[in-house]
Amino acid sequence: MKLLLLGKGGQVGWELQRSLAPLGELVALDFDSAELHADFSRPEQLADTVRQVRPDVIVNAAAHTAVDKAESEPDVARKLNATSPGVVAEAAQQIGALMVHYSTDYVFDGSGSAPWREDDATGPLSVYGRTKLEGEQLVAAHCARHLILRTSWVYAARGGNFAKTMLRLAKERERLTVIDDQFGAPTGAELLADVTAHAIRDTLRDPAKVGLYHVVAGGETTWHGYARFVLEQAEAAGVALKASPAAVDPVPTSAFPTPAVRPHNSRLDTSKFQSTFGLRLPPWQEGVARMLRETL
Ligand SMILES: NC(=O)c1ccc[n+]([C@@H]2O[C@H](COP(=O)([O-])OP(=O)(O)OC[C@H]3O[C@@H](n4cnc5c(N)ncnc54)[C@H](OP(=O)(O)O)[C@@H]3O)[C@@H](O)[C@H]2O)c1
Repeated sequence: MKLLLLGKGGQVGWELQRSLAPLGELVALDFDSAELHADFSRPEQLADTVRQVRPDVIVNAAAHTAVDKAESEPDVARKLNATSPGVVAEAAQQIGALMVHYSTDYVFDGSGSAPWREDDATGPLSVYGRTKLEGEQLVAAHCARHLILRTSWVYAARGGNFAKTMLRLAKERERLTVIDDQFGAPTGAELLADVTAHAIRDTLRDPAKVGLYHVVAGGETTWHGYARFVLEQAEAAGVALKASPAAVDPVPTSAFPTPAVRPHNSRLDTSKFQSTFGLRLPPWQEGVARMLRETL
């Protein structure tokens, strides 16, 4: 079997390089890959790349994920998040490949407190959310054999992340203020990559499993709860902090105005994914604690 991974250098893309490798021959590309074109700002070239590689499975981890920046460059965001995935999906359909694509909780308007289900009405609040929604619609429309995985609050051990920022700030300052009115589940890129590989194998055996799924770690928290958990873990590991977990003050989203509006309710109901693929999505604390053990 042959797999084509697009966006290999991102948080999820990096972990997919590891988790997809045992499934077959893996061609992994980034936007500046020399040998084959995989620049999502040039959609016209992507179909050629797909035709040249002729993979059985395409996994798209490339995206415009700078949520605030997207507000001032909607055309670029649209090209990366919608037009190009649509082109890849058309090419995937032509060669009969399965296409895996990621989307986001930002397709919802964040109202209420119930976890969103796959068939709930969408209502994106931002350019990022709108372009990601358009992207998932194009992928579903153009490629019958698709898995679209909506996730949220993704972190990775590699590079910067929210937990590392909180740790740095807690070493520098005596008090921190963190938003406590957005609810979601921090989800490790490692977990996403691993369950993607399982879902691909399962879908290749049982084509009826194609479709749209919500995939996040178990449980829920706020950014405030997430920050406190990170500092508790750091304290338990003997890290010297100026700000203890109790010195993290909760504030509303309005305390940190940003160009893009974020949803308050980012809870995603993952029961469809867990029951279809027979997988368990572990509590978010397990992945964050593990990432911290690697980091501290
Ligand atoms: N991060 C989150 O919290 C989050 C939440 C919900 C859903 N998601 C979705 O999950 C998926 C993976 O996200 P992630 O967290 O891994 O994002 P990420 O770390 O920002 O990775 C995105 C990748 O796309 C690449 N890229 C940027 N411009 C490109 C272009 N013109 N052509 C090709 N590739 C380009 C980036 O390269 P550079 O790094 O070099 O720019 C990066 O490797 C995305 O579909 C995202 O929308 C993410």
